[in-house]
Amino acid sequence: MTYVVNEKCIKCKYTDCVEVCPVDCFYEGENMLIIHPDECIDCGVCEPECPVDAIKPDTEPDLEHWLELNRQYSETWPNITSKKEAPPDADAYKDEQGKFEKYFSPKPAESDIGTVPAVGAADAATATADKRQDP
Ligand code: SF4
Ligand code: F3S
Repeated sequence: MTYVVNEKCIKCKYTDCVEVCPVDCFYEGENMLIIHPDECIDCGVCEPECPVDAIKPDTEPDLEHWLELNRQYSETWPNITSKKEAPPDADAYKDEQGKFEKYFSPKPAESDIGTVPAVGAADAATATADKRQDP
């Protein structure tokens, strides 16, 4: 068996679960985490840590789809080993139903390595400079 992350994690991504996992088997998508089913040692310590109850043992009913999804994306999403800030609007999605259909993203999380250049700000500055040169 393994533990599985379900749709309640989508757009919440509180990452409290990551802090307690002894084998670092969480992987991060754009707006949710999943568990690598072959790496999880079924210790169960992450289950009570999730504020939205998104982690369940795969022995519970109706989790086949989620087990498959956790397996599929653990192959391509990056490993996450420490807690990070939840999305600023995470609380607004806590109790929403049907999040998979509405919001699931197959994209991996963006890398946290390095700083993101302020492209928008640079473009705005250039535009302002261009304007000044206009007659
Ligand atoms: Fe990690 Fe244990 Fe949760 Fe599996 S059950 S994901 S090993 S904390
Ligand atoms: Fe998701 Fe709950 Fe972990 S919201 S990131 S499974 S703490």
